[in-house]
Amino acid sequence: MNVVLISGSPRADGNTEQIIRACAATVEQAGLTPQIIYLRDNDIFACKACGYCKQNGKCRLDDCLNEIIEQVRGAKGLIVASPVYFGTARGDVMCLMQRLGMVSRSSDQFLDGMVGGPIAVARRGGQTITLSEMLMFFFINGMIVPGSTYWNMVVGNHIKGSAMEDTEGINTVTAFTENLCNLIKKIN
Ligand SMILES: Cc1cc2nc3c(=O)[nH]c(=O)nc-3n(C[C@H](O)[C@H](O)[C@H](O)COP(=O)(O)O)c2cc1C
Repeated sequence: MNVVLISGSPRADGNTEQIIRACAATVEQAGLTPQIIYLRDNDIFACKACGYCKQNGKCRLDDCLNEIIEQVRGAKGLIVASPVYFGTARGDVMCLMQRLGMVSRSSDQFLDGMVGGPIAVARRGGQTITLSEMLMFFFINGMIVPGSTYWNMVVGNHIKGSAMEDTEGINTVTAFTENLCNLIKKIN
């Protein structure tokens, strides 16, 4: 059983990536298969509301999204982590989630019943708004979001790896990932 973990930062080996890799290790320890996707490798266009996905079950736009759709379609879990930019999620992350949701809702509802949730990474502020913004995607698509010991936020600045020193934040996302894996195993 696969769990897709998406890192929404453009910075290679930055805080978001290191957190996603820590979550992937937790997934592996739980006996599930992590699949990490790095958005830094790609530009993600915004949804054009063309309706192509209703007939075709995939997106008309020629970027990496259709590959990501196929990975998510075959998964039991989905974790999306974003750095906070100006108090909200990074633009590419929202573009990805909006198009992923549109294709799912317009075709085979592959997100419906899937377990997942968001993670926000920031230097100082905006994490709760970012989590709220990202949760809109999970809830409207029928996804099941497990809780944790705190909200899924980690504090880290421009120094790559500084977020790994936020022990409470890392413990929170680890507990979230453990709950996600336990839930997947129970319902599948
Ligand atoms: C364009 C931009 C906007 C940012 N806006 C915020 C913000 O609103 N609040 C905050 O606490 N940090 C903000 N930050 C800092 C990042 O969220 C923080 O450094 C994060 O750890 C970066 O993650 P990364 O290493 O995965 O790229 C911003 C950074 C950038 C580049």
